[in-house]
Amino acid sequence: MNILEQLRDRFSDPISKLTASPDECLAMIRPSRDARHGDYQANFAMPLAKQQKKLPRDLATEIIAQVDLADLCEEPEVAGPGFINLRLRDDLLINITTELLTDDRLGVERTETPRTVVVDYSAPNVAKPMHVGHLRSTVIGNAIYRLLKFQGHQVISDNHIGDWGTQFGMIIYGYKNFRNDDVYQQNAVAELARLYRLVNQVSGYHAAKSKMPNLEQQLAELESRLAEHRQREEVTPEDKSLKKARKQLNKERETLNEEFASTRASIDAVESSPQLKELAEAHPDIVENARKETAKLHAGDEENNRLWNEFLPACIVALNEVYARLGIEFDKALGESFYNPMLADVVADLQEKELAKESNGAICVFVADNPAPFIIRKADGAFTYATTDLATVKYRIEELNANEILYVVDSRQTEHFRLLFTTAGNWGFDAQFRHVSFGSVLGNDGKPMKTRAGDNIGLESLIDEAIARSRVIVDENDDAKKNGPELDEEERSQVAEAVGIGGIKFADLHHNRESDYKFSWDKMLAQNGDTATYIQYAYARINGIFRKGNEDRDSIRNAGHQLLLSHSSERALALQLVRFPEVVAEAVEDYRPNLLTSFLLEAANTYSAFYNESPVLTAENDDLRYSRLLLCDLTARVLSTGLSLLGIETCERM
Ligand code: ARG
Repeated sequence: MNILEQLRDRFSDPISKLTASPDECLAMIRPSRDARHGDYQANFAMPLAKQQKKLPRDLATEIIAQVDLADLCEEPEVAGPGFINLRLRDDLLINITTELLTDDRLGVERTETPRTVVVDYSAPNVAKPMHVGHLRSTVIGNAIYRLLKFQGHQVISDNHIGDWGTQFGMIIYGYKNFRNDDVYQQNAVAELARLYRLVNQVSGYHAAKSKMPNLEQQLAELESRLAEHRQREEVTPEDKSLKKARKQLNKERETLNEEFASTRASIDAVESSPQLKELAEAHPDIVENARKETAKLHAGDEENNRLWNEFLPACIVALNEVYARLGIEFDKALGESFYNPMLADVVADLQEKELAKESNGAICVFVADNPAPFIIRKADGAFTYATTDLATVKYRIEELNANEILYVVDSRQTEHFRLLFTTAGNWGFDAQFRHVSFGSVLGNDGKPMKTRAGDNIGLESLIDEAIARSRVIVDENDDAKKNGPELDEEERSQVAEAVGIGGIKFADLHHNRESDYKFSWDKMLAQNGDTATYIQYAYARINGIFRKGNEDRDSIRNAGHQLLLSHSSERALALQLVRFPEVVAEAVEDYRPNLLTSFLLEAANTYSAFYNESPVLTAENDDLRYSRLLLCDLTARVLSTGLSLLGIETCERM
């Protein structure tokens, strides 16, 4: 049962009579932060009273008089300027909690209106190894997938792998010109990754070289403008606007300097190695030639297609290894290449329907209010990322019967998706489209996270490091146990894996997805912080209580013991646990897994307060002992179910 929803339902009628936007007001019924203000609190009387020209307290009293809450709450209380405090009836709380004790779904009802939802997430561009930039889509997307599925929707995860893009032209070029056959035979993926990096580096070098003169000129111009400016300031120091303008110029110089430095770095990286330099000089047209390899691949060139077919399986195996470690599986992995045969038809159809037209040789869809068009065929005849995504929409709606498509993709692609959704709608494809966007993972310096050499950090090595660091903590903890270590080697490594991978996932999910966040090992693995570990420990400790008391969780749950909520810490814990359905609903509502992470941390905290105040195994009598064991068991189930919805594992012992 979703208590919050029930409460909002009850208030819905009287509130709708007072305002045209009742939902906004109903959203102001929230769980109280402070138990002294009841279990739930409604704040809508204040804004409503303003509109109604009444006193908020009077209005609150009027509204309460129209709502029948007797079966849910004690007599509501109007407090302070006009807050309505609601306290659940104890018998109701006991009943709901008792129901959850044996409910597999912990009170989360299956949706009555199941939708078919495609969740498009992860979607790395293959042939380059997965890196930290792929983390957020993978982790957030998987959590959303699990949450929707748990609610009873028909959910299809689809990994829209970038397996047809320009990176293949680069690898083909690298393979034809720079490959090391021995290494390729032994470890194709590693060699392909090396070739990608090499071609990328040499291409970057040439691009930087050609950009440099222009950059130098811009910088010189800016310097002379600044010098001129300073002179003017000396002449007319009273003119305050000059100072502001100088600040602006300084800012421009800073940006330009940064660009200059990174361009310089691309050049230095190659020039500092005689070998690389020679190679770069031998391949002056690498950018153009790699592009040609891509074009040949797309045009059906036999050799390039043979190479593509040779490279792809190895790349997919490497991807799947990472997914296996993360505990992630996809229902479908229809990469960009899958849609290649459909692209010409997409363009033809859009042209026929007069939604797309030629502009400077390219075929474009113009979308109202957007200055840049959606290019679906370039002047050289190549189809684009946009064309593929349009074909994908059509396929998902026609073949997968999707009513909703979620794209878990970083916020830099906002414009692409806006254009995509509008175009798809005009094209006649009707579904709920949603770009579930997210910010970047930053390093300590506040810039996108890179290795010291400036490369993206590989996801594999990130996982390895997380597990290695967790292992140290797990060992320390186990060695420090009062009665000696409990875990054998295998258990220690299992725990380290759950803690390490759980730590990475939790940190990512716990941040509001729209914001950037700084990656920090210490914060992520802290045992007393906002971490997965903290919750995992709470779960393991509960199991420890059962072991110590020689009690079995399954038997206790089904033995028909009476649940008592006599102590305030017991009541507070029950109240927190019965909120699980309400939080799952809210986390799905706007696709915000961080609402669930926060809830679980709060649950672990509330449990810890309960544990300190209400002895379990040494309770005064058996009735209390069993009642508290029931609460322990329910807490453990809420914590582990909640974590599992986020893709995070728990361990019986840690
Ligand atoms: N491969 C793309 C990238 O790395 C992300 C694809 C997201 N999904 C989509 N249907 N466009 O930027």
